[in-house]
Amino acid sequence: MAVTDRPAQRPRLPLIAGNWKMNLDHLQAVAFVQKLHWTLKDAKHEDGSVEVAVFPPYTDLRTVQTLLDADKIPFGLGAQDLSAQDSGAYTGEISGAFLSKLQCRYVIIGHSERRQYHAETDEVVAAKTQAALRHGLVPVICVGETAEDLEKFGASAVPVGQLDVALKDLKADAEIVVAYEPVWAIGSGQAATPEQAQDVCAKLRHVVAERLGQEAAERTRILYGGSVKSGNIASFMREPDVDGALVGGASLVVDEFAAIIRYQKHVGV
Ligand code: 13P
Repeated sequence: MAVTDRPAQRPRLPLIAGNWKMNLDHLQAVAFVQKLHWTLKDAKHEDGSVEVAVFPPYTDLRTVQTLLDADKIPFGLGAQDLSAQDSGAYTGEISGAFLSKLQCRYVIIGHSERRQYHAETDEVVAAKTQAALRHGLVPVICVGETAEDLEKFGASAVPVGQLDVALKDLKADAEIVVAYEPVWAIGSGQAATPEQAQDVCAKLRHVVAERLGQEAAERTRILYGGSVKSGNIASFMREPDVDGALVGGASLVVDEFAAIIRYQKHVGV
């Protein structure tokens, strides 16, 4: 493809991330990853244009890692959570050390389902962010407002406050990804408008600038998540501060996820 055919240059490599949540066992994971890879190959998808990452359940990670390695599939691998501790008597917990040994590059931290069902506070999210960085993992820090927050405080106050705490003790060169996921948009079929996503993502970038400096703000990728589909991804990706998507339900359907990854081919982008 000639350089002139490319979509306008973006300052950051887009990241399309599939959070599988508690879906797909390790056998289903193999079939899914292979089919996604073939679908993108058939469509002559350009691997360098977008980074793709999958976030399977813990029990799938070793199997998916082996498959990505053996078949040279260029998808990043991430876990959905990690322990704030590094090792010891913490039954049921998973250390970041184990995840980096499995060649995970990413780990989701502070997803609203963890905040809601596992009472994870902003302080826990900050401790887990530190743990991820100690083990060479890139934390994908999730923030977002509930419907009640939206009504009371508007869209940005809660996510801005959450991110501010998560970044409080980080070094300026820390590699992080931020995901803005309005809780009311998750799994509801009702995505935020691109304008709202842009507005909040711009404010989150400002938090990164204040905490880690301007250079970090310019290189940090900020994703939108919440009812992302092939039909709306392009409208989010047109926004200058939205650098990708964290996709739940639609990341479990091969054709749909492949179409999201290939958003640059959609009309009008
Ligand atoms: P949905 O795409 O199913 O709304 O989920 C979003 C999400 O929670 C990704 O982390």
